[in-house]
Amino acid sequence: MNILILGGGGREHALAWAIRQNPKCDRLIVAPGNAGVADIARGAAIDICSRSDVIDFAEENAIDFVVIGPEAPLAAGVSDALRQAGFLVFGPSQAAAQLEASKSFTKEICDACRAPTAAWARFADAAAARAHVTKHGAPIVIKADGLAAGKGVTVAETVAQAHAAIDLIFEGEFGDTSVVIEEFMQGEEASFFVLCDGTDCLPIGTAQDHKRVGEGDTGPNTGGMGAYSPAPVLTAELQEQVMARIIRPTVAEMARKDMPFQGVLYAGLMIADGQARLVEYNVRFGDPECQVLMMRLGAQVLDLLLACAEERLSEIEASWADDHALGVVMAARGYPGDYEKGSRINGLSAISESGFEMVFHAGTAERDGQIIASGGRVLTCTGRGATLAEAHDRAYALVDRIDWPEGFCRRDIGWRAL
Ligand code: AMP
Ligand code: GLY
Repeated sequence: MNILILGGGGREHALAWAIRQNPKCDRLIVAPGNAGVADIARGAAIDICSRSDVIDFAEENAIDFVVIGPEAPLAAGVSDALRQAGFLVFGPSQAAAQLEASKSFTKEICDACRAPTAAWARFADAAAARAHVTKHGAPIVIKADGLAAGKGVTVAETVAQAHAAIDLIFEGEFGDTSVVIEEFMQGEEASFFVLCDGTDCLPIGTAQDHKRVGEGDTGPNTGGMGAYSPAPVLTAELQEQVMARIIRPTVAEMARKDMPFQGVLYAGLMIADGQARLVEYNVRFGDPECQVLMMRLGAQVLDLLLACAEERLSEIEASWADDHALGVVMAARGYPGDYEKGSRINGLSAISESGFEMVFHAGTAERDGQIIASGGRVLTCTGRGATLAEAHDRAYALVDRIDWPEGFCRRDIGWRAL
């Protein structure tokens, strides 16, 4: 089988690494890919958000199965176009991807299927939004309604902060014309990953990530500085509760609305007092959550993604080892603010990778036989072990073997669970 993965981050490197191990995979192309992916698959410089470019490329390369990694091509309708052209695709339709692309869409789905989530209201003008905040007080959460690359959310501790966040959104900072205001939920956050084929659902793992750039979970938000799986807070009992109250009702409501959800539903949950409420949905794997999930699932991932795309999830099960994985992101100094590109990363070639130790690449490129940093988040050093402590030690042992003075990482990934 010829497989095309769209994306070029640590998530896609991890997907490629797992898929490559499955004997069903004959040829693997990752577009655009990165310097790490280049060791196991061909790269391709195409515009992955252009429907015609992706279809032409898939036709030219006799692709049998397309796996879409990031949200942008999903929101751009690349999966619909591929399906119309006859390709088998892992990734939701543009309509179903609204579960990530639109905050108000998700809130309306939750209301319709009574999935527990924060109380909310939507406003199309700043004055009404400000008045709502004045009435309800802080803390309160202000969100740009659309996709804002993780930057459109403000957890406001004061009314003044909330008002400032509203003004920023209506000034057009995120290209949005409406704001969603939510009740602030307290608790511990965890992520739950469930494959959905439009009708059936199959949980494939839990994880927790560290969004803040600084140790002790301080400083500005990032795409994620590290993650571990499983998330101890998401007990088997809580997972069943989330399936019954949140995931299955959402999938049924999406089918009822004629937008069947097909792909991975990544539920961000807030857990307090033994109850889980939905914070948000994403319609793709998380990065770096995917890296830790792939380390634990291994080669079976291809069978699971195929079963999902072929609408036969009811026939398959995920097999689990009683193991743990932890990933530490190495980023360029300055990230998530301004950072330099082009610094050399040494030490990578001396590392022998295995099912227990993997360095997944994100923003890397090769120049004159040398790996250089070409993005903000650059590597995810990932360890797997019988315990979380073992996985942690393996991941940091990898970090310590990488010689990259222009990079940094958090030293406390997993602290809450360790
Ligand atoms: P989102 O992009 O919706 O996931 O929001 C980003 C982050 O903001 C989440 O991971 C939470 O940490 C926080 N957040 C979002 N909504 C809420 C809420 N209603 N209550 C508390 N924290 C929230
Ligand atoms: N790590 C968070 C995300 O991928 O959205």
